[in-house]
Amino acid sequence: MNITIVGTGYVGLGTAIMLAYLGYQVTGLDSDEGKISSLKAGALPIYEPGLDDLLQAASPNLRWTTQYSDAIPDADFIFVCVGTPPLPDGHPNLQYLEGAVRSIAQHLDGKPQIIVNKSTVPIGTGDWVLRILEEHAALYATSHYEVVSNPEFLREGTALGDSLYPDRIVLGGSSWATGQMRTLYAPLIEQSFEAPAHVPRPRGYERPAVVETTLTSAEMIKYSANAFLALKISYANEIAGLCECVGADIHEVAAGIGLDHRIGTRFLAAGAGWGGSCFGKDTSALITTGQDYGYSMPILRAAMTVNERQRSLVIEKLQKHVRLLKGKRVAVLGMAFKPDTDDLRDAPAHDFILRLGRLGATAVAYDPVAMPRARREWTHLHYVEAVSASAALAGADAVIVATEWSEFRSLNWEEVLATMRGRVVIDARNIIREPLAAPAVLEQIGREQPQSA
Ligand code: UGA
Repeated sequence: MNITIVGTGYVGLGTAIMLAYLGYQVTGLDSDEGKISSLKAGALPIYEPGLDDLLQAASPNLRWTTQYSDAIPDADFIFVCVGTPPLPDGHPNLQYLEGAVRSIAQHLDGKPQIIVNKSTVPIGTGDWVLRILEEHAALYATSHYEVVSNPEFLREGTALGDSLYPDRIVLGGSSWATGQMRTLYAPLIEQSFEAPAHVPRPRGYERPAVVETTLTSAEMIKYSANAFLALKISYANEIAGLCECVGADIHEVAAGIGLDHRIGTRFLAAGAGWGGSCFGKDTSALITTGQDYGYSMPILRAAMTVNERQRSLVIEKLQKHVRLLKGKRVAVLGMAFKPDTDDLRDAPAHDFILRLGRLGATAVAYDPVAMPRARREWTHLHYVEAVSASAALAGADAVIVATEWSEFRSLNWEEVLATMRGRVVIDARNIIREPLAAPAVLEQIGREQPQSA
């Protein structure tokens, strides 16, 4: 079976490499010539742990192109993985998707071909894509195609494990088309592939559940899953605020709540709130979809409000201890929206640096991986780059831990505090487990200074 992946962002690349690893012939297509030529040279345009190794293993089955004429006619499955970034009004921008579908339509060749929507697309997009194909089919006399919605649930940073060992595979479409998708995914469904040495099958993992639905239900599943995870985090953050009021510890409270199987312990980590390209975008897209129908979604709105409040809270905690930030030096540890990625989209660190600048402070930022990207993408921000965490802290009046990279967890705080001018630590990711000796001040989210045992 031949597969074409349109769009080589996080989702497209992960999918292309994973399917090639499973043994399929995969063509990755992107209109960005720079990306394609670096992929042809074997270089990944993104940072994702382990993806390099899998790319090496899968490379005999992979080829890269910028031409639809080269990639579409022979493909049995065409995965659409283009970006759908948010517009200012919260609706996703479908310009890239529409362009991709129109180009695909021109090159369908009349044999049965399945167009798989893997991008997170607005509810109803599957039908819209079908209409575009129909318009073109009339022009180009092609007929045999179907559209399937197969949402992606992988997380950046753990993309490989999430793709090879998913909880579920959601397939929305006709029974013929979803049947074809089951055949394609058989190695995943049966877990019959050889697990790569660097991404071993998790202990106790058996097989993914396969969920067959209509196109629209599959689209709803993707949005509702992300919005639920987002509101779960906001719930933890809201409870964390009350923990601070009454003197409870959010770690203890979240662990105690999460042990109820109906709730689960994951995505209850309080902190700077969620970032990334998905939770904010998908939650506001659901809200605006509701608006299109005159339907309000107060729970989701509240989840967004709490998330915005978390970011302000971090600066307020800093201001509590450093009243006048003007002329002060504040280290920002971590720039990526979460560890193990270089993705900066909607990263809390962006807001912290912006606000510090407005308050007259100098931000000194360090990230183990995302700094080169920040140099290109954060040109509108003023900050000083540090070469290491300890260099960022040296001479600083305060520090904000914005991303919980493992190297920050293992920092020797005693040592680095001694090099700071002030000793105010705002741990916005609750990574510090030991109390800091006076005169250091430690602020966390939803808990007081950790007690010594
Ligand atoms: C998210 C979903 O988890 C994936 O299932 C989905 O496929 C993806 O969006 C997508 O739609 O493409 P991702 O954005 O890569 O994945 O990252 P997550 O690991 O979900 O983290 C999102 C944000 O929530 C991060 O900023 C993280 O720091 C924050 N978070 C996460 C918390 O603040 N607390 C938690 O307990 C967990």
